[in-house]
Amino acid sequence: MAEKKDLDFTYTTIDKIFRLSMGESADYSGAKYDGNFTMSLEEAQKQKHQFIADSLNIKKGSKVLDMACGWGPFIKYVTQERGAACIGLTLSEGQAEACQNNDMNVLVKDCRTVTPDDYGTFDAISCIGGLEHFCSITQWQSGKQESIYANFFQTLNYLLPTGGRFYMQTMTFAKNMVDFETIDVNAEKGSAAHVMALMIKEFPGSWLPYGPEMVIRNAKPYFKLISQSSGRKDYIETIRQWRKKFRAFSFKKYALYLSLLPKLLTDREFRHQVAVFRISPNKICFEKEVMEHYRLVFEKL
Ligand SMILES: C[S@@+](CC[C@H](N)C(=O)[O-])C[C@H]1O[C@@H](n2cnc3c(N)ncnc32)[C@H](O)[C@@H]1O
Repeated sequence: MAEKKDLDFTYTTIDKIFRLSMGESADYSGAKYDGNFTMSLEEAQKQKHQFIADSLNIKKGSKVLDMACGWGPFIKYVTQERGAACIGLTLSEGQAEACQNNDMNVLVKDCRTVTPDDYGTFDAISCIGGLEHFCSITQWQSGKQESIYANFFQTLNYLLPTGGRFYMQTMTFAKNMVDFETIDVNAEKGSAAHVMALMIKEFPGSWLPYGPEMVIRNAKPYFKLISQSSGRKDYIETIRQWRKKFRAFSFKKYALYLSLLPKLLTDREFRHQVAVFRISPNKICFEKEVMEHYRLVFEKL
């Protein structure tokens, strides 16, 4: 799995820039436009929150666990708009600190190791864009991917009552995924092999499930699938909007960009990371159907 150092690399590094661009508690996962791209990003993210909260039957007084909570957008929604109580978990120090400064109950903890002894059980659990980080390339290569997801659903099984709901959305590999051996930062620019190499640089320690089937199969001993939908096109639009927001001028943000210039000139890995913002390899992967994106609602048997 991606370890804390990997997730700090991915998320804590961009913490200030992200919050200056998107707002203090914004989503860093695909929004829900349902094909209506006249909506603003904020409206589409809110539509996603409503969909998840409705799917999970979250109401006043519900006890919710938001695994992989990022900067806390779903926590903010369920506590402020639905009157629920919510604990969030992240492995990024920067995100946890930002959430705590915004009065959210967020801890730095590996969500895959939570047991009822930690915080009791929950009425509902979400994991929005977290599963992508649960299996590393090395673990995939040594045949551990299925058991990692199986163990995760066993963890969830202990944390929910019968009939309790779990929502997740995750990127998956899709029909045009390339052979691992061809993935190379020096491959033709913009090719699947090139953009996949940039994805690996940006998300060290992370490897995706092979389609939603792989996830659903491992949930099956404990959960039935309630609904499944693709968010691939919605994610492409989300990334398009993020790109605009990362570029939008603010004095504080551009001063921060400027201060990173020496690092950019001397640090090769950092240059790869910046390429992610210049090129958006995840957008290209969705466009080329190297990757898909799914929203899955489960109910405990
Ligand atoms: C793409 S962000 C999604 C954040 C948030 N759910 C959202 O929708 O904005 C991925 C998040 O997964 C978290 N994460 C990844 N693996 C984790 C783990 N094992 N335990 C807790 N958090 C994890 C990262 O720290 C980060 O907050």
